Amino acid sequence: MTIRRAILALATPILAILASALPALAQGPNDILPEAPAKALVVRACTACHQAPQVVAKRRAPEDWDAMLGKMLDRGAQLTEAEQDQVYEYLVKYFGAEGAPVGAEAPKGR
Ligand code: HEC
Repeated sequence: MTIRRAILALATPILAILASALPALAQGPNDILPEAPAKALVVRACTACHQAPQVVAKRRAPEDWDAMLGKMLDRGAQLTEAEQDQVYEYLVKYFGAEGAPVGAEAPKGR
């Protein structure tokens, strides 16, 4: 009985904090990544140690993305070889050296 109370007393504020965090999750940092099949791979393999905006903060030439991917795989990014290709294509396509600065057309207030 008293243990139950203690659990309730602890759980209530935790639930309140979780609930207040939900709206923030709905508009998450991964929104910066364009929708494409490989997006899920990037989210899974590349947002464990840092968030998506850090990953794509800079546009890079194909060889630089290649080198960066190699570095991140060394660090422990989990991707099969086929997935590495997909992630590479994705990054080069959407965050290659050419084009508008990343986030140029992003909505305000982010
Ligand atoms: C095991 C942790 C880990 C994973 C997984 C990971 N990274 Fe990183 N990443 C880091 C660390 C630590 C840094 C900062 C140090 C550095 O720049 O080397 C970083 C930095 C970066 C940077 C910024 C480098 C700069 O100097 O501008 C990019 C871009 C990046 N990571 C891309 C990726 C991509 C793409 C993936 C997925 C394939 C990925 N990371 C997965 C650990 C990780």
